[in-house]
Amino acid sequence: MKNKIEFYKHNLKKEDIQSAVNVLKSIFLTTGPKVNEFEEKFAEYLEIENVVGLTSCTAALHLALLRHGIGNGDEVITTPMTFVATASAIIQAGAKPVFVDVCPKSGLILPDDVESAIKLNSRIKAIIPVHLYGRMVDMKGFSKLAKRYGVTLIEDAAHCIEGKRDGVRPGQLSDAACFSFYATKAMTCGEGGAIACRSSDDASWYRSARHHGISKNASSRYTKKYEHWDMEMMGWKYNMDDIQAALLINQIQRLDEYREKRQTLENLYRKLLSDIDGLDFIENTQSDEISGHHLFTVLLPHKISRDYAMQELQRNGIGCAVNYRAVHTLKYFKETFSYRPEDFSNAYDIGNRTISLPLYPKLTKKEVVRVCESIKKLLINSIFFL
Ligand SMILES: Cc1ncc(COP(=O)(O)O)c(C=O)c1O
Repeated sequence: MKNKIEFYKHNLKKEDIQSAVNVLKSIFLTTGPKVNEFEEKFAEYLEIENVVGLTSCTAALHLALLRHGIGNGDEVITTPMTFVATASAIIQAGAKPVFVDVCPKSGLILPDDVESAIKLNSRIKAIIPVHLYGRMVDMKGFSKLAKRYGVTLIEDAAHCIEGKRDGVRPGQLSDAACFSFYATKAMTCGEGGAIACRSSDDASWYRSARHHGISKNASSRYTKKYEHWDMEMMGWKYNMDDIQAALLINQIQRLDEYREKRQTLENLYRKLLSDIDGLDFIENTQSDEISGHHLFTVLLPHKISRDYAMQELQRNGIGCAVNYRAVHTLKYFKETFSYRPEDFSNAYDIGNRTISLPLYPKLTKKEVVRVCESIKKLLINSIFFL
């Protein structure tokens, strides 16, 4: 369609593509020097000791749980307002996800609510909060809680690389922070992920676990005299390769500039949509916080059908998405854990009303104006259709 406003456009530049082409022209394609370089530069950006490149954020969440001994018989607190991966990784580790409802204003889980759930359940061994839409949870609060109850704290930072809250950045107060480089994320290599941690022992474990638990990676086998490798522990096939790393390396230095562009666009959306009756927003970032501004979502008035609204936006050439229908309402979780929608009513309400609008550095202010005009028109029309 002409003049389509895409939901997302990546920002890969010629130099990113050239770096990947250089790897493709070399003899060595898998985990090697580019992954090492990426890990060093990303750790420097995050101001954290260790980063390990993986194939996805889901893999990072899975390994973080395993590293901290979480498995059969254990339970892990997380949010129902997230992508399924957060909860699926808990199940992959052999544990059970336990949801705590989100704050209706921010869509984030809060330390006080999590504490109430921990007090009732001695099987809780970990907490995985999610920095939803780019806004960080109260990591100082969660860190105190984790220490008080002796549980592991793992951040799902798929939406937030650039954030800061109370002077704390993702990864700095938790046992591990998990990042995604999926196609629509702030930096991307199509599919990819990383784990950040402060302990170098943990980092060595993740390096082994990402590659079958074997003692030598392909790079050392290729560059040095052949030596037999051994399998020292159980492992998985979660290693980032040099092609992915080459695509990512240059993007790190553009993260902050792009974050600011998204923030400006989000502020414009908020201003242009501020006077519509019944249209709500997730609370804006507080003045002393930095959000990743990963997604901008509106919450439609209760009386308006989201399906109708999405169809109308798409008919007008505007890409949109749902992030997310609450996880406990999805078939597998409903059937496996017998959840009812009202069990987590705030997440259920957000999940029924939310629409994510286009938000990326290449989006123009003119396009934001067009999206807002379409939303205003459809909300006025849909009142007549009811
Ligand atoms: C909040 C959240 N957690 C986890 C993931 C999983 O990331 P990946 O696709 O890299 O496994 C995503 C991906 O969209 C996400 O949005």
